[in-house]
Amino acid sequence: MKIWVLGVLCLAILVHGEDFPSLITANASIAVILDRQYLGDKYQTVLDELKDYIKELARVELKHGGVLVHYYSWTTISLKKGFLAVFSIASCEDTWELFSRTEEEDLLLFALTEVDCPRLPQRSAVTVTYSEPGEELPQLLLDLRSSNAISWKSAVILHDDTLGRDMVSRVVQSLTSQIDEESARPVSVTVFKMKHEMNEYLRRKEMHRVLSKLPVKYIGENFIAIVTSDVMTTMAEIARELLMSHTMAQWLYVISDTNAHASNLSGFINTLYEGENVAFIYNITENGPDCKNGLMCYSQEMMSAFISALDAAIHAEFDVAAQVSDEEWEAIRPSKVQRRDILLKHMQQYILAKSVCGNCTLWRALAADTWGVTYRQSDVSEQINEHANGSTGVIEHLELMNVGIWRPIDAMTFADLLFPHVHHGFRGKELPIITYHNPPWTFLQANESGTIVKYSGLMFDIVNQLAKNKNFTIKIMLPSHVKHEFSNETDMMHSQSARLTIAAIAKGHAALAAAPFTVLPGPNQGINYTIPVSTQPHTFIVARPRELSRALLFLLPFTTDTWLCLGFAVILMGPMLYIVHRLSPYYEAMEITREGGLATIHNCLWYIYGALLQQGGMYLPRADSGRLVIGTWWLVVLVIVTTYSGNLVAFLTFPKLEAPVTTISELLKNSDAYTWSVTKGSYLEMELKNSEEPKYKRLIKEAELLKETGGIEGTIHAARGTLDRVRGQRHLIFDWRLRLTYLMSADHIATETCDFALAVEDFMEEQVAMIVPAGSPYLPVINKEINRMHKAGLISKWLSAYLPKPNRCLKISTVTQEVSNHTVNLSDMQGSFFVLFLGLFSALTVLILEWFYNRRKRKSEEIVIKPYVE
Ligand SMILES: *[C@@H]1O[C@H](CO)[C@@H](O)[C@H](O)[C@H]1NC(C)=O
Ligand SMILES: *[C@@H]1O[C@H](CO)[C@@H](O)[C@H](O)[C@H]1NC(C)=O
Ligand SMILES: *[C@@H]1O[C@H](CO)[C@@H](O)[C@H](O)[C@H]1NC(C)=O
Ligand SMILES: *[C@@H]1O[C@H](CO)[C@@H](O)[C@H](O)[C@H]1NC(C)=O
Ligand SMILES: *[C@@H]1O[C@H](CO)[C@@H](O)[C@H](O)[C@H]1NC(C)=O
Ligand SMILES: *[C@@H]1O[C@H](CO)[C@@H](O)[C@H](O)[C@H]1NC(C)=O
Ligand SMILES: *[C@@H]1O[C@H](CO)[C@@H](O)[C@H](O)[C@H]1NC(C)=O
Ligand SMILES: *[C@@H]1O[C@H](CO)[C@@H](O)[C@H](O)[C@H]1NC(C)=O
Ligand SMILES: *[C@@H]1O[C@H](CO)[C@@H](O)[C@H](O)[C@H]1NC(C)=O
Ligand SMILES: *[C@@H]1O[C@H](CO)[C@@H](O)[C@H](O)[C@H]1NC(C)=O
Repeated sequence: MKIWVLGVLCLAILVHGEDFPSLITANASIAVILDRQYLGDKYQTVLDELKDYIKELARVELKHGGVLVHYYSWTTISLKKGFLAVFSIASCEDTWELFSRTEEEDLLLFALTEVDCPRLPQRSAVTVTYSEPGEELPQLLLDLRSSNAISWKSAVILHDDTLGRDMVSRVVQSLTSQIDEESARPVSVTVFKMKHEMNEYLRRKEMHRVLSKLPVKYIGENFIAIVTSDVMTTMAEIARELLMSHTMAQWLYVISDTNAHASNLSGFINTLYEGENVAFIYNITENGPDCKNGLMCYSQEMMSAFISALDAAIHAEFDVAAQVSDEEWEAIRPSKVQRRDILLKHMQQYILAKSVCGNCTLWRALAADTWGVTYRQSDVSEQINEHANGSTGVIEHLELMNVGIWRPIDAMTFADLLFPHVHHGFRGKELPIITYHNPPWTFLQANESGTIVKYSGLMFDIVNQLAKNKNFTIKIMLPSHVKHEFSNETDMMHSQSARLTIAAIAKGHAALAAAPFTVLPGPNQGINYTIPVSTQPHTFIVARPRELSRALLFLLPFTTDTWLCLGFAVILMGPMLYIVHRLSPYYEAMEITREGGLATIHNCLWYIYGALLQQGGMYLPRADSGRLVIGTWWLVVLVIVTTYSGNLVAFLTFPKLEAPVTTISELLKNSDAYTWSVTKGSYLEMELKNSEEPKYKRLIKEAELLKETGGIEGTIHAARGTLDRVRGQRHLIFDWRLRLTYLMSADHIATETCDFALAVEDFMEEQVAMIVPAGSPYLPVINKEINRMHKAGLISKWLSAYLPKPNRCLKISTVTQEVSNHTVNLSDMQGSFFVLFLGLFSALTVLILEWFYNRRKRKSEEIVIKPYVE
């Protein structure tokens, strides 16, 4: 069984091997299919003429061997007969069907078919679509679409009377039809017709009417204008007036009323503006008497091309075979696909070079190279202060690029892209970009001689990515004063550099300023902001809350009023005890003397005090009344002492922190204790002043205004003094969270301590953007790219690379602090020792008083009891 299968396989391979004999050993055979249904009446004449022609051609042109031609009158033939190629004249549908079968067999197909037929893929077939002269426009658009010269999802067709009604439907059909090739998707088409007015004024009015009400939001901004040349001029102007000709829109003007003699388009294209995407396809057909055309002409031309290719192929095979042995030849001779490709390439070259059929019908495509042209016109930096108005967007030296020529036989031969800027952005042009030093946004590094050699920072990350995506190179310009020396004195809005940069941009000296600018509301003279590159919230920095002094720790468990109550209780309970003890009739009744102990108020006081400290007195009252007083006191003491010691332990374990200030409201509540500062002239100051909220109004009224300092480095440099105030004097600094983070980090590196914390609350976000000249056509382009970078997370990734490295201080950046293990130390105990000293001191004082008292008493007694001595 296995052997049998193997045998069949071998046979199959052998048969397959014989399927395409070498051109040396056998004559090539081709199939010529002339579809009788398609050709109709002309079938017989075409067949006869073609037969004669091929016979003659083979005799004259084919020097080695011959060619076997099989004629068929229908397309559904079997292709398994070892044909080398197939030639067909058939309808579009049949041609494509035939093509799918020749593809399976790797055969070369060269087909002549009806007009408005998508051409077969150029990599494996040659297609000629025959049309009467003057009817080729739909085919032209179809070819543009299938060759992906216009890869649009939607198109707006604007046409005037030059395009007849059935022509319009053919044009629409050519754009919307389904093509086998996946890349050329159908375009959704909207058609608008304009009346062809001869009068210039009426024409403008009509055009304005049509263009201004186009719902471009829904129908897209890709326009095909099929118009006459003078209408084209007007339309370009109106489109510009209505701001419809911009970087995101594409305009293809198809102009049919030109011809070979009146084909200088420069006369019609008055002006081009920076940033437009405009392409022109115009008619350079010549209606001469010696124009060749017709079905037969194309058939003969294609046949000639094929025979020429075949001859060359046979020739080449003979040449190679003569140099090698038979076995080697078997190994290296071209495969079926290779041979097809050789033939195809030769045929295409032959047609390109020698084709004459329909040689009168020609269309030329031109594209306007408009992006970045005004910046190239002269060395912009040299005229930085002379040219007052800057670039207005008008391109002075028109430059139209030759895109290609369309012929019926081989469609468009492209030399360039139809819309070069859509695919290639600025096409490698150089754009002037102005910048200055302002970390972390831009870093400019100078070498020893002061020349700036390196540009980096977030803005340059963005600009470099922009340059990569939009295909331009960067030419750095500096605001004139920092050209050679290099200063730190930079600030977002007020520094010299920033002002000069804005002025230079407003004059249009540069295409973009790669520097951070705060987006300010209201009209800004001469500049436009890009979408924000970053959003910076404001917050404040405050000294990290410290542990409260623990000297009086032993007092902390009770509040002051508790202590007062306790004191009163002790003071009151002494006399109370004394009175109860004294008045009790118990002793009289029992005839016991009240001796020692509680007999005096003084003793009672000390007794109560001793009981409080759990030191029992020597004597207890014997009467129940007195004992009840003491018993209840003990109960009270028990509660008080237990509460006290429990609380004391808690206070020892959890250090008590200062009440932290974490929000503006908390700050304003404690405004007596704190002072704070805001940078003068900053965005924050402005926003706070303009704010309606009473909270912010108070904040700015009571704030100190610091002198402006400039960028991050400046802030760090200048804030040293202020930072010491924050550390020691309950001062707060308001600024960007980013800048304060830098400040904290720098301080941590310098001092190795973490003395500061950032507030938890962010407020008043400040948007940072780049700027372009007002009305710059590239603003949407730049915005789109920045938006893409935001979405891809590139910008936040880049920014994080410039942020200070996370350190211990930033990790616990909020004011809440974790509880750490605490062992009781001297500072916790110092209070009790202090009390001990106080006690000893008072004891000594009382001792001295007692001494004095005793001495005086003795003296007075001596005086009183002086014995009389005679
Ligand atoms: C090839 O064609 C030529 C001329 O038509 C003929 O003389 C020759 O016999 C043919 N060779 C083969 C192998 O059929
Ligand atoms: C192209 O120009 C020729 C000669 O002026 C003219 O005959 C032909 O109709 C034009 N083609 C179209 C599509 O208008
Ligand atoms: C086209 O016309 C312009 C003036 O309208 C002229 O300067 C230019 O040389 C002409 N170009 C050609 C190729 O004839
Ligand atoms: C077209 O081809 C014919 C024949 O070769 C030639 O006479 C004529 O000049 C050509 N016309 C053009 C416009 O090239
Ligand atoms: C500059 O602008 C002024 C008015 O804004 C205008 O009069 C002048 O012609 C302009 N100059 C140039 C060279 O465009
Ligand atoms: C940039 O523009 C040049 C000039 O048109 C082009 O050759 C190149 O392919 C473009 N590069 C990219 C990445 O588009
Ligand atoms: C600084 O850079 C400039 C420009 O590259 C160069 O001419 C100069 O020699 C450099 N100076 C030093 C000290 O490297
Ligand atoms: C610029 O900044 C550096 C530190 O970044 C500092 O040492 C230098 O003094 C500053 N220069 C000026 C002019 O402020
Ligand atoms: C550009 O700025 C001008 C005035 O400064 C403003 O009127 C215009 O709307 C801005 N354009 C955009 C796209 O923001
Ligand atoms: C507290 O101390 C114990 C024992 O020394 C240790 O295991 C624990 O991790 C410490 N806890 C903290 C929060 O430091």
